[in-house]
Amino acid sequence: MNRLIRGAIVAAVALAIVAGKASERSTTPGQPKEPTKADAERMIRAAEGGLAPVYAPLAEEIVERLTLADREGVGIDVGSGPGTLILELCRRTKLHWIDADINPYFFPYFLGQAEAAGLGGRVSAIRADACALPFRDHFADVIVSRGSFPFWPDLQQGIAETLRVLKPGGLAYIGRGLPERMPLETARRLRAERGEGPKYDPDETEQQLRAVMKTLGLEDYRIHRPRPNNPEGVNYGLWLQFEKPRR
Ligand SMILES: C[S@@+](CC[C@H](N)C(=O)[O-])C[C@H]1O[C@@H](n2cnc3c(N)ncnc32)[C@H](O)[C@@H]1O
Repeated sequence: MNRLIRGAIVAAVALAIVAGKASERSTTPGQPKEPTKADAERMIRAAEGGLAPVYAPLAEEIVERLTLADREGVGIDVGSGPGTLILELCRRTKLHWIDADINPYFFPYFLGQAEAAGLGGRVSAIRADACALPFRDHFADVIVSRGSFPFWPDLQQGIAETLRVLKPGGLAYIGRGLPERMPLETARRLRAERGEGPKYDPDETEQQLRAVMKTLGLEDYRIHRPRPNNPEGVNYGLWLQFEKPRR
């Protein structure tokens, strides 16, 4: 199917959900909290405010590390929320990008921002749970995700879904935190403004990711730990990079 038509269909589906179907999602006790408009508004304010310096250098880093500049096809940002990273990726790649987030209240903002940036035809949005992605097997060329995996109900299931949805030879970059190329002073200011110290142990998270990759039988992957042990003690987070085996 023509990529533009597919994009329009996916966007229409997303808007239909926002228009009235969001309340259909199950709220069985014990399940994660139903995402709200207030959650989306809070994250949008963060993306426009304190987190704004993150997205352009992160997109540069992703494009460089995954060599995406000339790659065509479909990219998915799982848990993209406001989609600011997607807009930066659109500017640096030829891919069509999909905001696949569990909270559909982000989508009017995201699609509006894309339209305003002249990127409306390059993006789509669909309500998606990282652990049950609404895409067929071998659908995507690239899957990225920033700051979302800590919220996934099951990390291993989320990475397994990423693998399922990627084409053989498709690329993933999943992590949390900041890009390596963000200067230390900017990172320190950002963390201070947002009152965010390292609330998690990156060593522990790295071990969790390694255990998941082992269980999934993937030996060929990299975990990037930007600027570990920097003199300011800023937690830059960590990033898992892999290619889906072609066999
Ligand atoms: C901290 S925000 C990060 C947003 C965006 N990636 C960014 O860096 O600006 C976490 C995002 O993950 C989304 N999210 C949480 N649980 C999810 C799940 N199970 N599947 C997909 N998205 C999820 C949230 O709705 C939210 O948009």
